[in-house]
Amino acid sequence: MSKARQPIPFICDGACVIDSHCHLDMNDYGTDLDAVIARAVDHGVKGIVTIGIDEDSSAAAIEIARNHRSVRATVGVHPHDAAQASDAVLSRLGELAAGAPDEIVGYGEIGLDYVKQYAPPGIQRSVFRKQLQLAKTLGLPVIIHDREAHQDCLDIIKTEGPFENGGIMHCFSGDIGFARKVIDCNFHISIPGIVTYSKADQMQDVAAFIPDERLLVETDGPFLAPVPFRGRRNEPVYTLYTAQKVAELRQTSLEHVARISTQNACNLFGYRFCC
Ligand code: NI
Repeated sequence: MSKARQPIPFICDGACVIDSHCHLDMNDYGTDLDAVIARAVDHGVKGIVTIGIDEDSSAAAIEIARNHRSVRATVGVHPHDAAQASDAVLSRLGELAAGAPDEIVGYGEIGLDYVKQYAPPGIQRSVFRKQLQLAKTLGLPVIIHDREAHQDCLDIIKTEGPFENGGIMHCFSGDIGFARKVIDCNFHISIPGIVTYSKADQMQDVAAFIPDERLLVETDGPFLAPVPFRGRRNEPVYTLYTAQKVAELRQTSLEHVARISTQNACNLFGYRFCC
């Protein structure tokens, strides 16, 4: 049997999983979005948070959430687009969020990306600070993107904090020491499909370490599909492979990881995803 035929992990006992970070508005889902969402829900991924990365995608995310009860949305400008995040754009994002209180459950993704540097780091930092402040004004948890910018992210989070509504370090890429510091700032840590890759030792250690009440799982779809779909389009139902791997690493059951991470997602996002 080929690896790609590895069956979707079966989740029982009425447990369910929440994909805490996906980009459902991207073109990759342009032709089969409804089927993608239905496939996730049918297999027990009963909630999906679709993440805004600029003004258009934030508006699109809200629209998708409006049409699907299992999907909630966020608004934000990704660090890649920080150079386009004028004050006018940020104020429109604030209006979008305020105008969709039933759909919007977070602010992001925002942060720092020192790998690609599509925007100069100084601009990324300034836009990151402004958006953290805006998220606080809106009373929303923040979703942070951090690539090779751990120390700067942490410094900014500390100076702009505290964050009473909490936050998420999405697609976490640090070590256990960094995880501890992030948790001390009242943040959750979201584990992506990378944890299933054979060389992801550090992430696997972190996935085993995170305290129960701080753990989330995500796809970051359409990117970063877990094994056995690595290299192909990622989609929310594959969160189950990630949750299964996390359960193995924590020497517990898929259902236990499902329950704790779903509870965390519901608390953090303030939304009762229906399991
Ligand atoms: Ni993302």
